[in-house]
Amino acid sequence: MSTAATDGPVSGAEPMPVQTTTWHAAWLPPEAFRALGTRGVLVHGSGPLVDTVLDEVTRACARYGGRVWRSPSWEVDADLVLALRDAGPLANATAEAVRLAATPAVNGRGDGTLGDEGFLTARTAGVTVVLADTPAGLLYGLFHVVRLGAATFDADRPARRHRPALSRRMLDHWDNVAVHPVSGQVERGYAGGSIFWRDGAARRDTARVRDYRRLLAACGINAIAVNNVNVHDTEARLLTDRLGDVAEIADVLRPYGVRVHLAVTFAAPVVLGGLPTADPYDDRVRAWWAAAAGRVYERIPDFGGFLVKADSEGQPGPFTYGRDHADGANLLAGALAPYGGVVHWRAFVYDHRQDWRDRSTDRARAAYDHFVPLDGRFADNVVLQVKFGPVDFQPREPVSPLLLAMPATRMAVEVQVTQEYTGQQRHVCWLGPWWSEVLRFAPRGDGGGTVADVVAGARGGGLVGVANTGDDPFWTGHPLAQANLYAVGRLAWDPHLDPGAVLDEWIGLTWPATGDPQRLRRTLHEVMDDSWRTYECYTAPLGVGFMVRPGHHYGPDVDGYEYTPWGTYHFADRDGVGVDRTRATGTGFTGQYPAPWSKVYESRERCPDELLLFFHHVPYHHVLHSGRTVIQHIYDTHFAGVEQVVAMRERWRRLAGLIEPDVHDRVAERLDEQVRSATEWRDQVNTYFFRKSGVPDAHGRRIW
Ligand code: GCU
Repeated sequence: MSTAATDGPVSGAEPMPVQTTTWHAAWLPPEAFRALGTRGVLVHGSGPLVDTVLDEVTRACARYGGRVWRSPSWEVDADLVLALRDAGPLANATAEAVRLAATPAVNGRGDGTLGDEGFLTARTAGVTVVLADTPAGLLYGLFHVVRLGAATFDADRPARRHRPALSRRMLDHWDNVAVHPVSGQVERGYAGGSIFWRDGAARRDTARVRDYRRLLAACGINAIAVNNVNVHDTEARLLTDRLGDVAEIADVLRPYGVRVHLAVTFAAPVVLGGLPTADPYDDRVRAWWAAAAGRVYERIPDFGGFLVKADSEGQPGPFTYGRDHADGANLLAGALAPYGGVVHWRAFVYDHRQDWRDRSTDRARAAYDHFVPLDGRFADNVVLQVKFGPVDFQPREPVSPLLLAMPATRMAVEVQVTQEYTGQQRHVCWLGPWWSEVLRFAPRGDGGGTVADVVAGARGGGLVGVANTGDDPFWTGHPLAQANLYAVGRLAWDPHLDPGAVLDEWIGLTWPATGDPQRLRRTLHEVMDDSWRTYECYTAPLGVGFMVRPGHHYGPDVDGYEYTPWGTYHFADRDGVGVDRTRATGTGFTGQYPAPWSKVYESRERCPDELLLFFHHVPYHHVLHSGRTVIQHIYDTHFAGVEQVVAMRERWRRLAGLIEPDVHDRVAERLDEQVRSATEWRDQVNTYFFRKSGVPDAHGRRIW
């Protein structure tokens, strides 16, 4: 994580200004390229992304003394060949022999291709070969080599094919162009300002975005939305008179295979086009969207598509016109279809003006109730983007049953990389294990398909993360939160990756040249591995969620949302706590799951402890699978959670001197805050439940 000095290119298609920057390199400091940069490298093929590969290799070799050739080239002594398969035979005899040896491994599997983004690696006779069918595949192959480092060259390896499981691997930036009076420059942003926008205008200096695109490509992200899903007045105009700003960002991202998407307002024909309506069935409205999309593709030929939050938390949508969400999404899909664009239509639709006295309305049910009847009606280029849980990015929720219930619809799963409800990048909260659990969840029980299968492949809508990056010198406010950004890309590429291994990759790429790599790695694992579960321990218990301070959502406020219209309640009284979502006596939400989960969640006895209060209202003396009562569990986990954070802080202190002082200081400061905040959580939650229940702590610890 050394400070980046962005070098000018040694060669390549794009001129890059030579300048020294003031932000950290995140996971691609120059040393990450050392193993590659000391070798002889041959790049074979052509196209803009191949130029990017060549440029990356050239810079690494210029720094570390290696050599670079671009085919055709006869006098080469390459250790590494990066080649497009259709670029013709290689002039170098050894490299060509390895290339030919590797190719049957591709042909012998599946459709015999490497796909739009895949690549193959092999090493024989002292030459490592990376083959791809597309320039994007070659770029991903390059970053694979960087990840492996010296191991790329240490021994012969049989040919291995790498293809992303999910074709759509996207980040949604909730960035506003103009500073919003409530949500600021970046809604739920905990990493400073936006790297794209500042005070109402595009940031003209693109150096930061140029570094960002490399970080994204290196972890596998291939699409971003550049503005907030809540589309305010200024941002609406990105679709029309401010389109040039979007085109500039697209130009910067293109050489790294990252496509740009735009969040648009459903009311655009009215607010931008001056039409009296945005009704999807109105011909003028259709014509307006068609023309708008046409103008976008004139400027940005590889534009990804639109992202829409409609009829949600005050955003306009088709309900205004008596139409449903299939009508709305298909309207935009029709406009994008001639150009191959896709609509990401969010399923986050619920009543945010609920009466807290009304026990029949359950926010968890809403998305399923709205969307399942529409299955089969969405156009092929609509992706329904579903939050991973049925409520709202809590540290623990069951997987949204909607993801499992629309077989005829392209589905994407949305996770929140920005840590709105998981410590706001002031707390260490490594989310890789959580997302991995979500992606591996098997809706119909073990042995059946997983959530990852639902969103995978060309028909799948992929994985979308709400971005956690900003113009903070460490990119993500908390330097360790970078790992979450890295992980969302890697898990989208391969949802079966072990999150611990992903963390190892991130550590290796971020600190490739530290004095004591073993100690650093061990300590980071000790601090991060369980940090999500630790966060869960000292915040809202057993999956009940919320209990956060309304508005900013940081810190505890047990009853903060209890009597509000937002539909997020815990129903604690003197006897018990939790939300009855059973079919037998509650809201019936458990019935949205297929078996076996519909039965498991319905049953108090079988429901997993960590979700008990999400599904059931239980007495405080209810005994968990762990053998403890609910009330004692609340006390124990809250005391333990704070102790774990104190231990984290101590471990981190011991890293002083091993990593850059400013990184160490920033994390240390945040750990102080995490200890303070966790203590506050502990004391408020424990005191609240002690006062409600009157049950003392079995161990007599201090409760206020
Ligand atoms: C949460 C978050 C909002 C955001 C919304 C969304 O409710 O607090 O800021 O707009 O999610 O996902 O659209």
